[in-house]
Amino acid sequence: MCGIVGYIGHRNALPIVVEALKRLEYRGYDSSGCALIHDGELQVYKRAGKIIELERCLPEPNKCTGNIAIAHTRWATHGEPNEVNAHPHLDCKGEIAIVHNGIIENYKLLRDKLIELGHTFVSETDTEVIVHLIEQFLLSETTLEDAVRSAMTKVEGTYGLVVMSLKEPDKLIAVRKGSPLIIGIGENEHFITSDVNAIIIHTKRVIYLQDDELCVVKADGFEITTLDKRSVKPEISVVDWDISAIEKGDFKHFMLKEIFEQPLTIENAFRGRINQHLGTARLGGLGIPNFELRKIKQIHLVACGTSFHAALIGKYIIEDIARIPVFAEYASEYRYRNPIIPEDTLVFVISQSGETADTLGALREAKAKGARVLAITNVVGSTIARESDGGTYIHAGSEIGVASTKAFTSQVTIMTLLAILLGRMNYLSTVKGMEYISELEKIPSKVEKILALNEYIRNIAATIKDCKNALYLGRGINYPVAMEGALKLKEISYIHSEGYPAAEMKHGPIALIDKNMPVIAIATKDPLYDKIYSNLQEVRARKARLITIATEGDTELSKISENVIYIPDTLTNLQPLLTVIPLQLLAYNVADLKGLNVDQPRNLAKSVTVE
Ligand code: G6P
Repeated sequence: MCGIVGYIGHRNALPIVVEALKRLEYRGYDSSGCALIHDGELQVYKRAGKIIELERCLPEPNKCTGNIAIAHTRWATHGEPNEVNAHPHLDCKGEIAIVHNGIIENYKLLRDKLIELGHTFVSETDTEVIVHLIEQFLLSETTLEDAVRSAMTKVEGTYGLVVMSLKEPDKLIAVRKGSPLIIGIGENEHFITSDVNAIIIHTKRVIYLQDDELCVVKADGFEITTLDKRSVKPEISVVDWDISAIEKGDFKHFMLKEIFEQPLTIENAFRGRINQHLGTARLGGLGIPNFELRKIKQIHLVACGTSFHAALIGKYIIEDIARIPVFAEYASEYRYRNPIIPEDTLVFVISQSGETADTLGALREAKAKGARVLAITNVVGSTIARESDGGTYIHAGSEIGVASTKAFTSQVTIMTLLAILLGRMNYLSTVKGMEYISELEKIPSKVEKILALNEYIRNIAATIKDCKNALYLGRGINYPVAMEGALKLKEISYIHSEGYPAAEMKHGPIALIDKNMPVIAIATKDPLYDKIYSNLQEVRARKARLITIATEGDTELSKISENVIYIPDTLTNLQPLLTVIPLQLLAYNVADLKGLNVDQPRNLAKSVTVE
């Protein structure tokens, strides 16, 4: 949500920040802007719409050779996404420019006070108060750094902020509270970004700023202090992936690339974490010895969006394999409903980005209640990873497509490992544990087989692309998969779709079914097969267009379905890792056939850092 970049160094800053901004566009893309200092002048360029619009209005790089610049791509919270509301925002004199990610909660109050003091506001954003506040403090403070420090004491809310001033053109100031900010270290040049992907083409040496830290960044060095001026020893991390990991390669879209990466990403999630001999799993990052783990009486899985669907699947798997009660809940609800967290409960927050504000809020709420909170995240060094008491990285590599795919299957893989680990401490025998492990090892090649059906699924997609609604059905562990399939379709194709437990359909949604309603049903061979078959007869009787996901060798479903997508068989608890793949491909192909921007669907953002 909102992407930020800053550059200061020996090179021409403008092309560097614009290029970096393009790598952040997946975080927000309703408007963008940049500011730079060139020939003693602060120049600002902004446009509504995608970054391409901004590029069209920029001067030729050789006509704009300043060595310091900031840039921003926006996902609107306060104020519509137009040019005026786009960042950077300026003070009254046009000497200070800022870019901001986050929300200033007390902005109305501050704005009224600043207006009283004579400041003129031009936008409807919360961000603009910060720059006027800094301007106001500069009347009494001598340096930009001190003015920023003082301004931050008045601001309530979250921010990842970069400040630049015409009066002090040799520095950028970065401050963070609640929104990610990273300093990239180069040779006589430095970068600031909200997402490391934006700068790895230039440097892999980075520092993740912590909350309440301020960094003065110059071309030849930087200094980090806390907002209350205590010095901070920088901890330099080295990014261990390269640029190819965040490029589309031969794929038309990132989403398609990420769907096709799943044989590898699923394997990466379990590699080194299974013990075939003992039929168990290892999750060292949890930091909890086995004798303590076996005392766990309850598990809470808390997440948003697709990660929440992984949590729902986790509930089925863990309860079945480990026989421990599991509660899966939306983070936005959990954080405010005063959850009961008994002793011997483990709380897991699940988040691909590790930055989702509601999930972070839930983590803090659980910690405030004294619970042990573990994180299942993808992004190393993310806020959720850092604030948790331990956890597990899913190792899926950067996920750029806004609609999450590979992170989901990796999260489900981790849920499976957790279930096996806890199960082996309770009721799961070695033999059964070994069976799970060896079946899990076969999943990547089975996913490969399903991916080979892409063309066939694209043909099915062509038949439903113009529908207005779609219903996804599943039972048992495939019910949350149906929800995930429906979410994928609505996110990127804008077709209204719902995921429902198949048997529940007769209590409402059946009223919607007619020949225009595609029904996509997961009816693989499992203990509930006969039950769902009957539910699908009810659908068929109402003339819906039935598309089923079936187990290879099934001969019955073709009798009632218009299309059947056959997938390999596996243990019931591992099925979601396979059944979700055709649903991802179906959603992708529908959106692509409709000519939509698959990687950047309207109104959505990859990482939602506001509540
Ligand atoms: C946004 C994204 C979704 C994602 C959700 C949770 O809504 O568009 O794809 O599932 O946030 O994100 P997280 O990073 O916490 O998994």
